[in-house]
Amino acid sequence: MRTKIVAGNWKMNKTLEEGVLLVKEIKQLLVSSPFTQSAEKYNIIIAPPFIHLKAINDLLIDDPFISIAAQNCSSEEKGAYTGEVSAQMIKSTGAKYIIIGHSERRNYFNESNAMLAKKINLVLSNNLLPIYCCGERLEERNTNIYFDVVKKQINDGLFHLSSLEISKVIIAYEPVWAIGTGLNATPQQAQEMHKFIRKVVSDKFGEQIANSISILYGGSCNAKNAKELFANPDVDGGLIGGASLIASDFVKIIQSF
Ligand code: 13P
Repeated sequence: MRTKIVAGNWKMNKTLEEGVLLVKEIKQLLVSSPFTQSAEKYNIIIAPPFIHLKAINDLLIDDPFISIAAQNCSSEEKGAYTGEVSAQMIKSTGAKYIIIGHSERRNYFNESNAMLAKKINLVLSNNLLPIYCCGERLEERNTNIYFDVVKKQINDGLFHLSSLEISKVIIAYEPVWAIGTGLNATPQQAQEMHKFIRKVVSDKFGEQIANSISILYGGSCNAKNAKELFANPDVDGGLIGGASLIASDFVKIIQSF
């Protein structure tokens, strides 16, 4: 059975004090949540800004469900790259995951698929797990090239990996037109693309591996629409932006499976 995952990407929000408070609220709400009794495998991931990673990881050290992710890492291993943060540094904070290739990184910081492939290698070589994002822009959906766009992102970012390596990757489908816009993909659109992504992975790495990989949906996923989105057979959870900043909404999304 695939692991069900809800990951909160805080983006550039929350001071350290606010972030600590939010995590405490989430923990408190989860203590009394029925999902904590379930036999199914759940992972909850929180991706705060880099400078909060250590403090928030310390708050979660004994937590059986919640782990920490970074939102990005450098494409270089170490050295004279002012302002960059390496995968190795992230590992040393206790984080377990790194989000790679978020559309905001691709679009605002010109991150190419080739650069993202380098980052994926550094994540894996530091024994961390990548959450690799893909997704088309509005004009790419409107001109019906969205399958090609996503296939190329998967191909260029992940197809150099070995079977063992790809099985550690979580994929997040985040249509750019749905991010922060309040417009979410319909459950049918999400299922269609997730099924396609699984087929792309299967054609390269085989059905068994493709069936074991978690594929998350992101893009205005919230406490109201999560249930419908997560009900689809190829949607294994969500990568949540805005709604992950409100404890009660984030926990409602976790309870939507
Ligand atoms: P929103 O949920 O705010 O649309 O953001 C989605 C996202 O980009 C998560 O990484």
